[in-house]
Amino acid sequence: MKHALLAVALTLSGCTAVMPTAKQHFDLEAHRGGRGLAPENTLAAFSNAIDLGVTTLELDIGLTADGVVVISHDTSLNPDHTRDANGAWLAPKSGAAIRSLTLAQLQTYDVGRLNPASDYGKQFALQQPRDGERIPTLAALFAQVQARGANAATVRFNIETKIDPNKPNETAAPEPMVRALLAEIDKAKMADRVTIQSFNWRTLALVGQLAPQLPRAYLSTARTLKDSRWTAGLDAAGFASVPKMVKAAAGTTPGAVIWSPAYADLTPAVIKEAQRLGMKVLPWTVNQRADMLRLMDWGADGLITDYPDVLRDLIRERGLSLPPPGKATS
Ligand code: G3P
Ligand code: CA
Repeated sequence: MKHALLAVALTLSGCTAVMPTAKQHFDLEAHRGGRGLAPENTLAAFSNAIDLGVTTLELDIGLTADGVVVISHDTSLNPDHTRDANGAWLAPKSGAAIRSLTLAQLQTYDVGRLNPASDYGKQFALQQPRDGERIPTLAALFAQVQARGANAATVRFNIETKIDPNKPNETAAPEPMVRALLAEIDKAKMADRVTIQSFNWRTLALVGQLAPQLPRAYLSTARTLKDSRWTAGLDAAGFASVPKMVKAAAGTTPGAVIWSPAYADLTPAVIKEAQRLGMKVLPWTVNQRADMLRLMDWGADGLITDYPDVLRDLIRERGLSLPPPGKATS
């Protein structure tokens, strides 16, 4: 009954109510769709992650020149995994800003394979290429997931707004980006399956104002914590710990608050401190078995990894509940 009243109140205030879910699982997040296995941030990667069975698809977004929300980690086309319409690799540092291209222009580029000559490409030897993959729209990902029906009915989305204060001309400003993102989420009726994450805490403050029910994940790393342009004006020197700083940034909005630090910044004590403050702790990007096991021992609430298959095996070995695979695995 209390939940029903809350739902009515939130609906009247223009928000979609997010009801508590039944059992919370260890959050197995496929970073960029699981870039260790399939081309990053592509529909092929997200589909592969769903087939494997993950809790959450981690992804990054930007806006095109014509205002479409697209899935890309980089604010400019990345020559390490981008070929032009003739099949030629982009020359180093030649990639146009996503923001400067229309969706139609953007989709002339192929992002289905790593450039084997690049240092970046050499890092992911197990990645299976899928030639022809395009930078997808967020709407296309939502449609793909919805089209899978029961095979992807529970998968969540951890969506990162990529806005770099050092490159203001390469991206939309925080407010148009957040508004466009929220509109897509609303259109697809995905509000109860989405977390918004960012190193740019100003965008999270906007999410808190415009959609206070949505979970927000505060990303942190040493570089961004010491620059208040990333932390919505907060000065780390004024806080005894990063969890306390995140708590101050998050304020009192009702949506869940997650702290998502670089995994090497964690200790058992700081994980417990964050959890005592009411946050979940979700480190990135954890790719080695030993690191995964250690962070699980320390009580992390989930992990973001390029290798969701490896983490899945560890979750199984530990007897924790596993997200269902989208199709039978043999
Ligand atoms: O989810 C956090 C993680 O994705 C941040 O790193 O650079 O891969 O977006 P990045
Ligand atoms: Ca990301």
